[in-house]
Amino acid sequence: MTERPDILMIDPMPEAITQRLADRFTIHAFDDLDALKAIAGRIRGVTTGGGSGIKPEIMAALPALEVISVNGVGTDAIDLVEAKARGIGVATTQGVLTDDVADMAMVLMLDVMRGITTGDRFVRSGQWGKAPVPNATTITGKKLGIAGFGQIGNAIAKRAVSFGMEVAYFNSRKRDESPYLFHEKLADLASAVDVLVLAVSGGPRSKNMVNREILDALGPKGFLINIARGSVVDEAELISALQEGRIAGAGLDVFAAEPHVPEAFYALDNVVIQAHRASATVETRAAMGNLVVDNLIAHFDGKPLLTPVI
Ligand code: 8YV
Repeated sequence: MTERPDILMIDPMPEAITQRLADRFTIHAFDDLDALKAIAGRIRGVTTGGGSGIKPEIMAALPALEVISVNGVGTDAIDLVEAKARGIGVATTQGVLTDDVADMAMVLMLDVMRGITTGDRFVRSGQWGKAPVPNATTITGKKLGIAGFGQIGNAIAKRAVSFGMEVAYFNSRKRDESPYLFHEKLADLASAVDVLVLAVSGGPRSKNMVNREILDALGPKGFLINIARGSVVDEAELISALQEGRIAGAGLDVFAAEPHVPEAFYALDNVVIQAHRASATVETRAAMGNLVVDNLIAHFDGKPLLTPVI
């Protein structure tokens, strides 16, 4: 009989993926640290989401842990230094979610600039025919700044070009292969563009990178789109910038303390909100889930991880 390593599942997965996992592994859904104690010594693998990662106290409680398979691309909620020191492999689902996440950036931008959600509310609340139909903002010809120019940033740039937008970017290094204008400073990019899209990795380096200075550089006609991590934006500053009209609007898929969304956002008509679901399509979640399983199988078959981070 093949061995059935014990796997801790931190975030739930689609049914078909859970079934695939259960066919090969013994699955334990994470409840709390107390409940974990009874089985902690047996856990050799973890599956988790990019947003959830693995809390240091959970990682510390798993002495036999060999591999963490992330259902996402973000590793900001995983202590990679500790994982490396302990020889724990970490894999993500890099590559398979790029297009859907880039689409979400475009959808949020189009929605907030063209007033789609507000237009829907206008009709549903019976205002059509009673109040003037609101005018929105043209997309074509506008300048789009992308902060973080990895795979997702690139995919957003391609889409924006086909909408007739001019693209520039900020990144930790200039991408010589890229045809777009590079800004060494985020503030310079923000002041040069009409829309700023955040596609940077989360973590300490990007924490509160979008602060009052950046928002004021974007200015009263500027829009902010965040499909990266809530931690990248100083949320209190974003709320006051939106309330005071110091920026024009925002499209937000991610928040600093998910699933909590500061209530102040709900009162703002110039904000479009999503529940961290840029990669949440049936197709992509299936592809991600299968890659999570394939990485675990590779590891327990004694092969290298398919999409390793470390
Ligand atoms: C997912 C993400 O929503 O890729 C990431 O890091 O945050 C998202 O794609 C998340 O990982 C789902 O669990």
